[in-house]
This record gives sequence, structure tokens and C-alpha cells, in this order.
Amino acid sequence: MAINVDDSFPFLVRKISKASGIVLNGYRDSYLRRRIDLRIKTLGLENYTMYLRFLENNPEEVEEAINAITVNVTEFMRDKTPFLFFREQILPEIMDKKKKAQSNMVRFWSAACSNGEEPYSIGICSKEVLPEDWSISIYATDIDINCLNKASKGVYSQEQLNNLDLAHIQKYFEPAGEAFKIKNIPKLLLRFKRHDLTSEPPISKFFDTVFCRNVMIYFNEKQKVKMLKDFYNSLSEGGYLIIGKSETLPPEIRELFIPVSIKEKVFKKA
Ligand SMILES: C[S@@+](CC[C@H](N)C(=O)[O-])C[C@H]1O[C@@H](n2cnc3c(N)ncnc32)[C@H](O)[C@@H]1O
Repeated sequence: MAINVDDSFPFLVRKISKASGIVLNGYRDSYLRRRIDLRIKTLGLENYTMYLRFLENNPEEVEEAINAITVNVTEFMRDKTPFLFFREQILPEIMDKKKKAQSNMVRFWSAACSNGEEPYSIGICSKEVLPEDWSISIYATDIDINCLNKASKGVYSQEQLNNLDLAHIQKYFEPAGEAFKIKNIPKLLLRFKRHDLTSEPPISKFFDTVFCRNVMIYFNEKQKVKMLKDFYNSLSEGGYLIIGKSETLPPEIRELFIPVSIKEKVFKKA
């Protein structure tokens, strides 16, 4: 049954935003409506006014509303080829650059990391390519605390490891009951941090690569531009930006990034 559209939608969004502290005006309106409609249907309610009242009477529903808005689908080595490109093209180039600068420290940011599959994939690729004694620092951020808790535990079912080679599973995971836990990998430093891409400044500068995949699709153009400018400022000279396969850079910021691979959606700071 379709939900009855009424005038309460802006009030509803404001209510969720105020109660959760999460700024929602960077998201596409159609996306917010779709996600909230789904939640309303699940609750068996009929319209936005009813949901607004439901939220007022059930303050704990705010968290469910935010869960409905943030889609957490992810995978290890998602889409495979961008990670192959990262391993075979980007990491060797970063390594050469660092050697010239007499540095053995690399820094990556997985922005909107969901349950951790993306930052661990970055870690695995890096460990496979970079010399043993190099320090690899990965910031893994997301707006969703539940995701970050799961990510920091690093425990995944066998099914979730499907995209990884058996050799990598054996090398980087240890059995944990029915599941598998990421091993403590020397020289790999992962930091998990709550960070809202719509409202907070970039967490740091001098990243060698920023991964921001499959979240920009939910944002409106203004928000995309803001976020991509932040990434520009958080990248080191010639640093890389990797976005999702179905995402594109808005024309306004195209002069900030040089395309490296259109197919893999890899860009370089201009
Ligand atoms: C579909 S997942 C993408 C995960 C991973 N990057 C990938 O490509 O597999 C989108 C993630 O974006 C997060 N997210 C949504 N809005 C956000 C925001 N404003 N700031 C930071 N993360 C956000 C969600 O919580 C979710 O974990």
C-alpha cells in the first residue's frame, strides 16, 4: 500500500534531524522520502503526520529512522576492479613517491566505511604491496555508530568473506567460533571514528588516498560539492580520490580532480 503524502514531510525531517543531531538537508529529497516511506510502511502507518506523532510518542524511534536513512550495504573489495587498480597502479606509484621523499608512512581515509569491509580491504591491498616495515594508517569513518562498532570488532561470517581469496583469508583472518576475525596485522593502524560528511570538516590533511564510495549517491548537488572540496583539502599533493562505480563528480569541482581511470572512478588531486 502506498503511503499518503501530506504536508508534514519537512516537519518530520526537521524533527528527526533535531532529535538525532544529524543534519539531513544535504540528502536528496527523493532519497529521504523513499527511505522514510519504507519505515512508515514497516510500522503499518499511513502518512507523514502519523509518523511524526509516532516519533513524538516513541523517542527511541529516532534511531530507527536514522537506521532507515543510512543504507549500510557493503562488501570486501566491493566491485573488485577498483581495488585491483588500487593495488596494481596506485599503491606502486605512492610507494615510489614516498621513497623519493624518504618516507615509509602512508595514510588512507575510508569515508563512510559502513561495517568495515572497505577499510580492511584497503589494509589487505596495502599489506600485499608495501614493504613489511612500512606504517599504514587508515582512518575509517561513518555517521552510524552501530556500523563503527561492528567495524572495530572486525568479525565477519564466511559468506561476508566471499570476495576474498582463500590465501588472503588465511593470512589476514583467524577463526572466531563460526565466524572469522581480522588478525592483528603489524604496522597496520586502523582508527574508527564517527564523522558526518555533511556537517563536519575533514578529519585530517595529507591523505594519500581517500575512498568515498557509494554514499555520494544519497546527497544533493550542494552537499556533493562541499564534501568533494573537503576531500580536495584533505588530500596530499597528487593524492587519489576513489568514488563509487555509479557516482560522478559534479561539473563545478571537475577542475579540482584529474581523471586517472574513468572506468574505475579514480581521480587525482589537481
Ligand atoms: C552503502 S554504504 C557504503 C559503504 C562503503 N563505502 C562501500 O562502498 O561499500 C553507505 C554508508 O554511508 C554512511 N553515511 C550516510 N550518510 C553519511 C554521512 N552524512 N556521513 C558519513 N557517513 C554517512 C552510512 O552510514 C553507510 O554506512
